[in-house]
Amino acid sequence: MKNTYQANEKGYYGDFGGAYIPEMLYPNVEELRTTYLEIMNEPSFKEEFQQLLKDYVGRPSPLYFAKRLSEKHNTKIYLKREDLNHTGAHKVNNTIGQILVAKKLGKNRIIAETGAGQHGVATATVCALMGIECIVYMGEIDIKRQAPNVARMKMLGAEVRPAMSGSKTLKDATNEAIRDWINNPVDTHYIIGSAIGPHPYPDMVTRFQSVISEEIKWQLQEKEGRENPDYVVACIGGGSNAAGTYYHFLDNPDVGIIAVEAAGKGVHSGESAATSQLGKEGIIHGCKTLLMQTDDGQITEPYSISAGLDYPGVGPLHSHLYKTGRGEFFSVTDDDAMTAGLELAQLEGIIPAIETSHALAIFNDKKFAPDDVVVISLSGRGDKDLNTYIDYFKL
Ligand SMILES: Cc1ncc(COP(=O)(O)O)c(C=O)c1O
Repeated sequence: MKNTYQANEKGYYGDFGGAYIPEMLYPNVEELRTTYLEIMNEPSFKEEFQQLLKDYVGRPSPLYFAKRLSEKHNTKIYLKREDLNHTGAHKVNNTIGQILVAKKLGKNRIIAETGAGQHGVATATVCALMGIECIVYMGEIDIKRQAPNVARMKMLGAEVRPAMSGSKTLKDATNEAIRDWINNPVDTHYIIGSAIGPHPYPDMVTRFQSVISEEIKWQLQEKEGRENPDYVVACIGGGSNAAGTYYHFLDNPDVGIIAVEAAGKGVHSGESAATSQLGKEGIIHGCKTLLMQTDDGQITEPYSISAGLDYPGVGPLHSHLYKTGRGEFFSVTDDDAMTAGLELAQLEGIIPAIETSHALAIFNDKKFAPDDVVVISLSGRGDKDLNTYIDYFKL
């Protein structure tokens, strides 16, 4: 049977996905599941979404040929500049889509989780735009290492609530958000920030982010005379920028799919977030997926220098891409990512988010041919990470 890389009706990508939720969340998730495709396909919804992406976010984001980086690595490298979106990352593509869905469902309170703060900022931004109350859960450690984004969220009128349990990072913030949703089932929409969570979230988020690969196709046609690159490369936290970058190429085996995870201090150091290498099938935040866990099923605390990749699972699409071999997975250490971030800054004048720097470190592990066209998702800008870069390089 031919593999499919689309979610089926129950939200499964092969063996992964589904909706594993406490009974008290069932009405919220079911309301979303039964309406999301209909809402997204309404012409008036599409028109408002497209118009906001264009006039508010600033899409299409450029597809930039990185000449000096290409010379250095002896291949043709294009950067998909999601860092140039309003709020500085790909996350806003999804929050614009979901706030419009929330409005259609008559919700007047928004909750979100955030790791790097980019999704929190993108959520606070669209809530300000629509005049809707916004509460963002964020791990206490992330509040410290992503301070500029915390200030931005507050300035945008959002309330930032610290998550104090576990590793005090993204996983714990997500737990708090789910708890809030259980307590506020009627008026609240939970804007999940990655291609993770119970069905229909992974599919809905992937569809909103698929604007990335939709644009890559026509932009590459203009620049290279062909729609399909040889490879698409993206970093993976939960997997939303990756899912959007791969989406229109998933069923074309001529396009290689490369996923880059955070190896932290080394895959086997005990301080890592390399889920494909270390994970086993399990359930986290409402879906069945690969998950870092102990032999008796306790979730392992993840670690990465980058707050946005510091997560013990990956979205179900990515578990499927890994298991079927459709995607090639690599794990990049903190040190290699930081070095790749500095390299981009000095070769191309672009300071990337540390999450993105992981994708940029791919050239240590994978050799490309000189005429290969390699498109890398430049998922976000590095402003939020300046202090981490400064401390690391003693700038
Ligand atoms: C710039 C940037 N890239 C990547 C990620 C990872 O998220 P995802 O895997 O959902 O794209 C984040 C998460 O915060 C981010 O801020």
